[in-house]
Amino acid sequence: MNFTGSHILSIEQFERADIQRVFDVADAMEPYALRRRVTRVLEGAILGNMFFEPSTRTRVSFGSAFNLLGGDVRETTGFESSSITKGESLYDTARVLSGYSDVICMRHPAAGSVAEFAQASRVPVINGGDGANEHPTQALLDLYTIRKELRSKGRTLDGLRIAMIGDLKHGRTVHSLCKLLCLFDRVQVTLVSPQELSMPEYLVEGLRNAGHQVVVTDNLQTSISRIDIAYSTRIQEERFTSKNEADLYRGRFRLNQSIYTEYCEPNTVIMHPLPRDSRQEANELDNDLNANPNLAIFRQTDNGVLVRMALFALVLDVVDQVEKYSRDV
Ligand code: CP
Repeated sequence: MNFTGSHILSIEQFERADIQRVFDVADAMEPYALRRRVTRVLEGAILGNMFFEPSTRTRVSFGSAFNLLGGDVRETTGFESSSITKGESLYDTARVLSGYSDVICMRHPAAGSVAEFAQASRVPVINGGDGANEHPTQALLDLYTIRKELRSKGRTLDGLRIAMIGDLKHGRTVHSLCKLLCLFDRVQVTLVSPQELSMPEYLVEGLRNAGHQVVVTDNLQTSISRIDIAYSTRIQEERFTSKNEADLYRGRFRLNQSIYTEYCEPNTVIMHPLPRDSRQEANELDNDLNANPNLAIFRQTDNGVLVRMALFALVLDVVDQVEKYSRDV
């Protein structure tokens, strides 16, 4: 893949060598993310950060990543602060905003909308989540995290054993992660959800066609006993027709310290794209796991900055200049 000037819309754009390239550049970004060095390589550049659905991590980490490379951020949050509310099309919005920005990150509730926007944009567009479709940068940071966690245990991504748990029908992070895992070898994937919220069949087929072993189940306890990664997801209430319908499924696959201790192998890594539901009756990842050293959720969020810095540097073709424009703090 030639990253320079490319839109990042789907994991389907990536080959295995591209993933390695992103991870290598992300590793090189660590001194800047940790504020040990400062770079101004993107000085004068502007990120248009356009989020038409709520976001904490993706929006702020894209902005922080751009700032850490020396660039400025202009932000639109919610339809109410955009002229889309007045009936403006995605085409016109893209033509206008791409005249103000060097790169645009976008989240939108409709599947396919970020790709539609990108077609009219004159600058690269990065998908920050389009409806229940994809969240490619989350999958990249998730896999980057998994690789780091496995490496500390002497393991590699090939041969990974992972359980994805929760609302697999609407969870765009697990959709992108499934596509990403197809690039690796001998992966064992257990998909744990109520039948009504199961992983879309085309993604299950994709994993099987990649030669992976896939188990589909609604039994949490038996699914987490021989895995490396327990990847939990929340019930995506915003994709249901009503709160009552979403309530039917909340708390069904709750992971807490006592379940972890009873069923998981020692050192099983716990992940979640966040946000997790903090309400006691609904939460899928209990707060009593916070002291568990294998809870990697905040390592995921930190890694998100590194991966997003890497994507900006690759898309804007400044990887080789980051160090030249840098200094010690
Ligand atoms: N993981 C994730 O997409 O979080 P936000 O919705 O807070 O961006």
